[in-house]
Amino acid sequence: MIVLGIETSCDETSAAVVSGGRRVLSSVVSSQFDLLECHGGVVPELSARRHVTAIVPVVEQALREAGVDLDEIDAIAVTQGPGLAGALVVGVNAAKGMAYALDRPLVAVNHLEAHIYANWLCDAPDLPAEPVFPILCLLVSGGHTELILMTGHGRFRHLGRTLDDAAGEAFDKGARLLGLGFPGGPAIENAARKGDPRAFELPRAWLSGTHDFSFSGLKTALLRLTEPMRVPESDRAPELTSATSPSGPFRPHRAPVFPDDSPIAELAAGFQEAIVEPLAVKTARAALEFGVRTVVLAGGVAANALLRERLRHEVLELCGPGVPVAYPRFAYCTDNAAMVAGAAVWIIRRGDLVGWEVDVHPRLSLMPN
Ligand code: KG4
Ligand code: ZN
Repeated sequence: MIVLGIETSCDETSAAVVSGGRRVLSSVVSSQFDLLECHGGVVPELSARRHVTAIVPVVEQALREAGVDLDEIDAIAVTQGPGLAGALVVGVNAAKGMAYALDRPLVAVNHLEAHIYANWLCDAPDLPAEPVFPILCLLVSGGHTELILMTGHGRFRHLGRTLDDAAGEAFDKGARLLGLGFPGGPAIENAARKGDPRAFELPRAWLSGTHDFSFSGLKTALLRLTEPMRVPESDRAPELTSATSPSGPFRPHRAPVFPDDSPIAELAAGFQEAIVEPLAVKTARAALEFGVRTVVLAGGVAANALLRERLRHEVLELCGPGVPVAYPRFAYCTDNAAMVAGAAVWIIRRGDLVGWEVDVHPRLSLMPN
């Protein structure tokens, strides 16, 4: 079965063609870096407008790169939610139109489920083994931080979640405080390479006795440390605005500036460590408690090398070599449509097709209420 996937839940316009739920034939992601850079984050209205202009060329490129014609597509899959309403509308309507015109089934995919199924994707001819159930999944993205027990395809149980900021959101806010740009995860990871993580003491919220997480105290601690180090606004040249700026009518973001000898690398390293440590340690403890057979990482923060390494280390220490830790290929950690097309096959197998009345669901959750 060949599925065309479409993803527009936030700021990436993406289309992909996946065969058999696992083999990626093409994956095209168009990012809005100029907008993000300018505003230090996503502005929903601007993002939605970009999706409108990007969606058709992105789908065409995905079909071309896969070497398949439209009539070879067996089903169309699209992210229904969670995400930004105006962004989701673009993808859902593009998918509806194509499925109707081609007379193919339409599959509405939960973005969080798609992130988890990115662990089944592969672009090499030899497919690696599928993760074995029961699976413990640490889903860490810009909008979510959830610990999920997966007992079979489409069968999820919530164990814990963040009580405030998501892990990716913490990386983004931390990078903003350090003047490192957006998205914050890769920016902090890069800056941290040259820094000693023990140079500053940063707090970890352990929330003992729960499988929950919290990152807002850490963010406040970083704010307190960096505020006195910043170059004061009164010493900075005024911002020059241009008529052609991608900010349009919105005020551009003004990043903080630090003197050259500021310990940005040390702060970035300490901050990264303080996010990663509770995630890795608490996930390993839950893996032992629930006797899972695999641990998987999912979501944009799964691209973080320190998190991958620490999670593998903690699970090996606590559960032994019999419980492997898997993570998606780097390209399928952050938002992409290949994970949507991949998840669709498992959804079709359980008979979950949708009709033309399907609409976006910005607050869609993984668990039925
Ligand atoms: O899954 P994703 O692309 O979008 C959402 O569904 O939210 O995740 C985006 C998040 C951003 O917060 C970004 O800073 C973070 O993933 N991220 C990372 C890394 N790459 C992306 N965080 C830490 N380390 C990375 N290498
Ligand atoms: Zn995502």
